[in-house]
Amino acid sequence: MNILVTGGAGFIGSNFVHYLYNARPDWHITVYDALTYAGNKANIAGLDASRVSFIHANICDEAAIDAAVADCDVVVHYAAESHNDNSLHSPWPFVETNIIGTYRILEAIRKHSKRLHHVSTDEVYGDLELDDPAKFTPDTPYNPSSPYSSSKAASDHLVRAWVRSFGIQATISNCSNNYGPYQHVEKMIPRQVTNILSGQKLKLYGAGENVRDWIHTEDHSSGVLAILEKGRIGETYLIGADGEKNNLEVFNMILRLMGKDQSWLEHVNDRPGHDMRYAIDSSKLRQELGWEPKYTDFTAGLQATIDWYTENQAWWQPQKDETEAKYQELGR
Ligand code: NAD
Ligand code: TYD
Repeated sequence: MNILVTGGAGFIGSNFVHYLYNARPDWHITVYDALTYAGNKANIAGLDASRVSFIHANICDEAAIDAAVADCDVVVHYAAESHNDNSLHSPWPFVETNIIGTYRILEAIRKHSKRLHHVSTDEVYGDLELDDPAKFTPDTPYNPSSPYSSSKAASDHLVRAWVRSFGIQATISNCSNNYGPYQHVEKMIPRQVTNILSGQKLKLYGAGENVRDWIHTEDHSSGVLAILEKGRIGETYLIGADGEKNNLEVFNMILRLMGKDQSWLEHVNDRPGHDMRYAIDSSKLRQELGWEPKYTDFTAGLQATIDWYTENQAWWQPQKDETEAKYQELGR
């Protein structure tokens, strides 16, 4: 099996590459990545070069993506602009990569009759009220809030249309908030952990009531592989591990695990259009494909993530100042 992983040098894509490398030793993995500010070849360093190759290219580059898709058996598509705060500051790269880039991949998939798994987010469904007993299911109507989530929603619609109109062999997954190693320091958990490691305060948006449904990135990887191998073509599966927590709870856990008191917590300006709550009902994936998450103890997963950032300062240090300068501009 030759598998092409777009965005395989980013956070979730590189964790998937490591997972697959161990889980399917007879597969050849090709990482296709433009190495934007969010991509880092160090994330996939140390893997056997006879089993993992790398193409440095943009998914919007029609000729490059066409050639790469022609050469593989299946594509797992992670490449995206992925950060809400960036999308509020500068939406165009989100439209270009997430919509046009996905279109280019779909056209190559159609031309070469290859199998596609499209990786998406639960944010396409918009948000839930705090007291709503409901969770997102594959039937929840799309209602995205930000340029990020709307561009991901658009990409999902393109995939569905290409399945229905052209009969391509594709599946979609929508996953909740991931945490784990190799996540860029712009995202919530790494930002707070590396703030403490840099002697800076934690930056909490608004009152911290917003709820996210946390899943360890390795559980996301096992869900994607299950769908790739056993999922029904044309179907959408939601990936989540029943990890709902509000932001204040997570901030307090980080403070406690890192031995800091409340004086380290700073309330900053809220994000415009800030989604209140995400929650995933993953019963379709569990019942149909027998998937189960492995990391069910969030405190243990968070501690392991804190340890990783503590031990890998050389990995995140080069991104830190530039990232905080961007936040300074946004007043967050
Ligand atoms: P990331 O920003 O860490 O990584 C994105 C990767 O894609 C980087 O390596 C980057 O260089 C590459 N890339 C960006 N634009 C590209 C382009 N035009 N051509 C080729 N490569 C390009 O993102 P992530 O958090 O790892 O997310 C990966 C995927 O998972 C995204 O599709 C995202 O929507 C989805 N997702 C993320 C989360 C989350 O919690 N982060 C949750 C659910 C789904
Ligand atoms: P984030 O990691 O950006 O993921 P998403 O917007 O995709 O959910 O943010 C997670 C939550 O944390 C979100 O409610 C915004 C909040 N947040 C903070 O309170 N402080 C921060 O510094 C960041 C980056 C996020």
